[in-house]
Amino acid sequence: METEVLAIDALKPEMNRVSRAAGFIKEEKIVVFPTETVYGIGASAYSEAACRRIFEIKGRPADNPLIAHVSSLEMAQEIAEIPEGYLPSIKRIWPSPITFIARSRGKLPRAVTAGLDTISIRMPAHPVALALIKEAGMPIAAPSANPSGKPTATNAGQAVRYFKGKVDCIIDSGRSFFGVESTIIDLRSFTILRPGPFTIEEIERAFGKRPKVDNVARGMASADKPVSPGTKYTHYTPDTPVMLFNGKITELVEILDDAPNAPSFAFIGSGESCSAMSDSFGCSTIELGKRENPYEIAKNLYDGLIALDSLKVKFGIIEAFDEKGIGLAIMNRIRKATGNRSINRADDLPANPAK
Ligand code: TXA
Ligand code: MG
Repeated sequence: METEVLAIDALKPEMNRVSRAAGFIKEEKIVVFPTETVYGIGASAYSEAACRRIFEIKGRPADNPLIAHVSSLEMAQEIAEIPEGYLPSIKRIWPSPITFIARSRGKLPRAVTAGLDTISIRMPAHPVALALIKEAGMPIAAPSANPSGKPTATNAGQAVRYFKGKVDCIIDSGRSFFGVESTIIDLRSFTILRPGPFTIEEIERAFGKRPKVDNVARGMASADKPVSPGTKYTHYTPDTPVMLFNGKITELVEILDDAPNAPSFAFIGSGESCSAMSDSFGCSTIELGKRENPYEIAKNLYDGLIALDSLKVKFGIIEAFDEKGIGLAIMNRIRKATGNRSINRADDLPANPAK
């Protein structure tokens, strides 16, 4: 199918172009659009047929519900029962990279809610996303723009590689601001289901109480009976297997020295660690940014995972980061990308079948 690629300025959206994209939404078509976190693949939240198409295009399991993106609190209250007590705080912090789960008013089709009696709502802090929803005049249901399980597109180029010929329109507004998906909090239990750019500390400040964070949120466990169905699937995985290393680079150097027959690998991490690894092994490296700037690391993370596949190595090693602030989201995504496989000793490395 024909895909229209529409360039729209991220900070000063050209309204004639926004209207054109909104026209596709009103006609129950599929539009890939930018948000401050990642790109989303969106459709009218009221269209069962269009939302079903999103599942087909992504290869997404049918029991994994979509987020309804809104441009006003009123639009959110049309579809969700937001507890009164939380309204003042939500008013103050919206729009921002946080998604709230609340009881659903049952107005959206099954394809959006996957039959749950709850609904997730989010007001994205991106001028183009907000203008698009406003102009369409209805909530836009959108999961992240990635084929199910693959690293999410955080720029239009990657969205085009994933979805050209499969969707009706792709908006090109350059790079997303944060690079990892929104924080998800279940308002009923005040529990973090997925960490994101809106940090635990910020939630505590905005709501005056600390949310619950468990091992599922940290990416270390998957929910058996999933509260957030997405938590039971592997995610963000490149085709090349990738393993986590949590320790000092000198220790990793020792482990690799003890495994002289280890197959070819690439290292993904901070600029500092990449330099140390390439000095020691001359291996390929993928730099995510400066260790002391976790926002830079988050912004480059998915592109880094996607780049691993183009290096044609047998596996990747990615280093661990501090789980503070947005670091919790970074480690959640890394743990999922590695399928919780980590390197602690030479035996953990994949064997080289050729030797
Ligand atoms: O930043 C983001 O949130 C991006 C952009 C496009 O807004 N969207 C995104 O959507 O990450 P998605 O579908 O990839 O992730 C939404 C997660 C899934 O894990 C899903 O299971 C969960 O939210 N979810 C959605 N509705 C839910 C509900 N009613 N109860 C529990 N979990 C829900
Ligand atoms: Mg996703």
